[in-house]
Amino acid sequence: MDALTSLRPADTAFRDDVLAGLAAPIPAVPARWLYDLRGSELFEEITRLPEYYPTRTETALLERHAGEIAALLGTGEAVVEFGSGSSTKTPILLRAVDPAAYVPIDISGDFLRESAETLQALFPGLPILPVEADFMRRIALPEAVAAMPKLGFVPGSTIGNLVARTAVDLLRAMKETLGEGSRLVIGMDRIKPVEILIAAYDDSAGITAAFNLNLLHRINVELGADIPIDAFRHRAIWNDEMSRIEMHLEAVRDVEFSVAGARFRFAEGATIHTENSHKYGHRDSRLMLRAAGWGVVREWTDEKEWFSIILAEAEPPRSAP
Ligand code: AVI
Repeated sequence: MDALTSLRPADTAFRDDVLAGLAAPIPAVPARWLYDLRGSELFEEITRLPEYYPTRTETALLERHAGEIAALLGTGEAVVEFGSGSSTKTPILLRAVDPAAYVPIDISGDFLRESAETLQALFPGLPILPVEADFMRRIALPEAVAAMPKLGFVPGSTIGNLVARTAVDLLRAMKETLGEGSRLVIGMDRIKPVEILIAAYDDSAGITAAFNLNLLHRINVELGADIPIDAFRHRAIWNDEMSRIEMHLEAVRDVEFSVAGARFRFAEGATIHTENSHKYGHRDSRLMLRAAGWGVVREWTDEKEWFSIILAEAEPPRSAP
C-alpha cells in the first residue's frame, strides 16, 4: 500500500478538499484544515497577540456581564457549549450561571476529553457530559439533561468563519439541538476601522502568517506534496462588500507543484483563499439570529463597540403577514 491508498477517511476528506479547492476557478481550501495540532497551537498564540482584540475583548465582556446573564436565566440550566472550551471564557460563564450540568460538544474527541478533564478539576461537583459530534447538524443531547432548561454557549465569534447561509444553518441546527424555550449566549465580532482589522489578522510577529502558511506545510507532509512554501506569502484582506476579513496565500512568483499526483500551476499574484472572518453591524447579527429563529433578549458591547455578546431566546414558530 502506498501512502495515499492507506489514508484514513478523515485524511481522504482532506485530500479531496485540497484537490478540488486548488483546481477551482477561485482556488480555496476549507478553513477547518488550518487546525491540525500545529495550527491549533498557533491559533492559541494568536489569541494572546496584542493586535488580536477579539479574545481579550470578549473575555472582559463576559467578566463584566456574566452576573447579569445569569440573572436573566432561571436555575438548573444545562450549559451546552458548541466547540468545547478549556479556555478562560467557559469557567467565567459556569461560575456565574452555576448550572446543573455542562455538555461540551466537539468533533475532536481528544480535545473534548482533555478540556472536560481540565474543567472537571475546576468544577468538581458539576456533572460534565461531553458529546463527540459535528454540531452543524441536530445532536441528541444526553438523557440526563433532557428535562433541564438549556443554555447554548458559542463564544469566540466562531460563527464569523461561516458565510451567512451556513451560519444561519448552524444557528438553526443549534436551536433544534437545544429545543424550544432554550437560550443562547453567542459572541459576535463587530465591524471596525480597517487598520485595526488588518493588524489583527496580519500581526507584526508573523504568527497569523505562520498559522496560514502551516496549511501548505500540512499539505506537503500529509498528502505527499512538494509545494515550495517560500513561494507563498500570507495576505489578510478586508472585503467590504462581504463585510469580512479574508486570509489568502499569495504566490510571490510563478510556481508549479504536485499534490497527490495532480499538478498545479499558480502565476505570481494568484491566491489560495483559506479563511473568512465576517464582522457584523448591530443589525446584521440580530437579522442573522432572527433568520434562524432566535430572538435577541440582550446585547452587551464594549466602549469601542468592537465585540458583542448576545443573549438570545429560541422563538416559537409564529405566523406573520
Ligand atoms: C476561530 N476564529 C474565530 C478566528 C477568527 O478570528 O476568525 C480564526 C483566526 N484566523 C486568523 N486569526 C484568527
